[in-house]
Amino acid sequence: MKFFIDTADVKEIRECAAQGIIDGVTTNPSLVAKTGRRFRDVLIEICEVIPHGPVSAEVTAIDYEGMMREAREYAKLKDNIVVKIPLLPEGLKAVRTCAQEGIKVNVTLCFTPTQALLAAKAGASYISPFVGRLDDVSEFGMEVVQQIITIYENYGFKTEVLVASVRSPTHVLQAALMGAHVATCPFTVLQQLTKHPLTDIGLAKFLKDWEKVPK
Ligand code: E4P
Repeated sequence: MKFFIDTADVKEIRECAAQGIIDGVTTNPSLVAKTGRRFRDVLIEICEVIPHGPVSAEVTAIDYEGMMREAREYAKLKDNIVVKIPLLPEGLKAVRTCAQEGIKVNVTLCFTPTQALLAAKAGASYISPFVGRLDDVSEFGMEVVQQIITIYENYGFKTEVLVASVRSPTHVLQAALMGAHVATCPFTVLQQLTKHPLTDIGLAKFLKDWEKVPK
């Protein structure tokens, strides 16, 4: 299973890359806004930190022509850029053209299995179901992921299921048990995954006992 980090904060990306736990990066306009930097600058820096992993760059146009303009511009910046396109009718047109032009697309803002089916048919490389936002409105985000996996298996789609809007290690565990290809997680969730109170208690005891060992 692959882990992406869901952030535009280069410091967080560097830290997780040093830990060897991430395979790629997803960004979105809200995450980029938090950095206060120009998108192009952030994007290029991220691609240099993760040169072999996919880095998602989201378009902000909502019409086909505008999406394609941005998609072509981002795809030219670095080889590992994956263009992120929202799941709209205009977006599906752009996904189809991108696929024909060899531009990889991560289809974002997916909330139903049937939306995911359309994205796969249009030629998406990744589909991003937003599990946390579904949970927030009393739906079951991980059930949608399971349904997408089943549908893709039924028809042999190659589109990778990229579990997004992850809020906890439990989402990650469920995604792994379901066989999702990727989970994109905020820095906090990636760090929570490493932690267990018994690890800390065990280490404190080892270090205390070590003091008794003649040096
Ligand atoms: C996915 O690519 C999105 O950037 C992200 O996972 C959204 O997460 P949020 O619902 O926590 O904003």
